[in-house]
Order: sequence, then C-alpha cells, then structure tokens
Amino acid sequence: MKWTVVVIFNILCMHDARSYCPSLCICKSNKPGDGASQEPPPEDLLRLKCGGSPTQITELKEIDFTKIYNGVVSLNLSGNAISTLSRELHLPNIQKLDLSYNQISLVESDAFYNMTTLQKLDLSNNQISNVYREMFKGLVNLERLVLAQNHISVLALGTFDYLVGLKQLDITENPLICDCALLWISDWARNTSVKLVGNPKCAFPENMASKIC
Ligand SMILES: *[C@@H]1O[C@H](CO)[C@@H](O)[C@H](O)[C@H]1NC(C)=O
Ligand SMILES: *[C@@H]1O[C@H](CO)[C@@H](O)[C@H](O)[C@H]1NC(C)=O
Ligand SMILES: *[C@@H]1O[C@H](CO)[C@@H](O)[C@H](O)[C@H]1NC(C)=O
Repeated sequence: MKWTVVVIFNILCMHDARSYCPSLCICKSNKPGDGASQEPPPEDLLRLKCGGSPTQITELKEIDFTKIYNGVVSLNLSGNAISTLSRELHLPNIQKLDLSYNQISLVESDAFYNMTTLQKLDLSNNQISNVYREMFKGLVNLERLVLAQNHISVLALGTFDYLVGLKQLDITENPLICDCALLWISDWARNTSVKLVGNPKCAFPENMASKIC
C-alpha cells in the first residue's frame, strides 16, 4: 500500500518535466544513484542532447528552455552548426556543456558570464582562434576545459585566471606558436596544479615544432 502511494507520488511529480522537452532535443531524467533508498530530487535533473543530425542548430535561440531551464544539468550540442556564442543560455544549474564539433569562431566576452555551476566545458573541434581572459569570466567552478582541435596559435599570460577551480586543460591539436609569449603556460600549469592534457605540441617555429610547450 505504502509502495503504491510512493510510486504514484513519484510519477505525478515527474510528470511535468518528463512530458516537456524542447523541440530538436532529447531529454533524459538523471536518476540519482540506485533510487531505492534516496529521496527524490526536488526537481528533475535533465540531460539534454539537442540537434545534431538530421536537423542542425545554427543558433542557440532556436531551443526554447523556458519551461525547464532550472532543471538542465547537462546540455549536449555536439555536431551542430553554431558559429557564434553569446549570452543566450540561461541555465542556472548547468554542470556540463558540450559544444564540440560545431563551427564556433567567435565567443563573445559574456557568453559564459553567469554559468557559475558549470564544471565541464567542451569546445573542441571548432574554429576558435581568439581565446582571451574575459571569455571565461563567471566560470568559477569549471574543472575541465577542452579547447582541442581549434585554430588557437596564441595564448596570452593570464588567459585562464578567472578559472579558479580549473583542474584539467586540453589545448592539444592547435597550431600553437611557441615563442616567449607562450612559455608561461607550463609554469602556470605547475603553479596552479592544472593538468595539461596530452602534452600540447608547438606548430611553429620550425625548430620547436613537435616540442612540448
Ligand atoms: C554528446 O553527443 C555526442 C554525439 O552523440 C557524443 O559523442 C558525446 O559523447 C556526447 N557528449 C557528452 C558529454 O556526453
Ligand atoms: C545571473 O543569474 C542570476 C540567477 O540566475 C540572475 O538573477 C541574474 O539576473 C543573472 N545576471 C546576469 C547579469 O545575467
Ligand atoms: C609561478 O610561480 C612563480 C613563483 O611563485 C612566479 O614567480 C611565477 O610568476 C608564476 N608563473 C605564472 C605564470 O603564474
């Protein structure tokens, strides 16, 4: 008897969030642990995958998050055709954001301004060449940043200073120019205990090509 009540209660609670998913997206509820002994979460935690094939998204505003924005903890936008990132995502509880395999070339300075809960950001396989300090403002809890396979050649001293919680950085497969301007990276990684994933290599100058930064 008690069981039935609990089950029905759960179904009723979950109904709203389950029945709504933005078009172009697939929504999954994040079930906490084994479920049996745990309290149900205050609201459904949603993991979304949006676009990709066959319908690619070119702009973030094509997705309507208004009914679920509080519940989204993970958003996968990999494999779309987004070219510019600006302040369009208002997801106060997001922890994981996958923007890999898009066509992003421009990241505006306020793009991640309010994403204080974000822990993992994947921007790999895009066309980003300009990476700058202000771009990461607000990402105070970011632990993993993936910038692999972009067009980055220069990184200025202090670029990652806003990322006070960073643990892992992946800048592999970029045409990095390893001149004096980039020598700070390994120093900085050591100072901050950030793990540089996969030993980023220099593309230029030629006498340093394939050397580790
Ligand atoms: C996002 O989706 C792509 C394509 O389906 C997949 O390869 C990738 O692992 C997903 N990302 C995350 C963080 O789950
Ligand atoms: C940042 O997020 C908070 C809480 O979600 C919101 O109240 C605030 O208006 C946002 N600030 C900006 C500048 O977007
Ligand atoms: C690393 O720490 C040393 C010693 O405190 C300091 O002199 C140097 O400027 C730091 N380097 C970077 C890039 O933060």
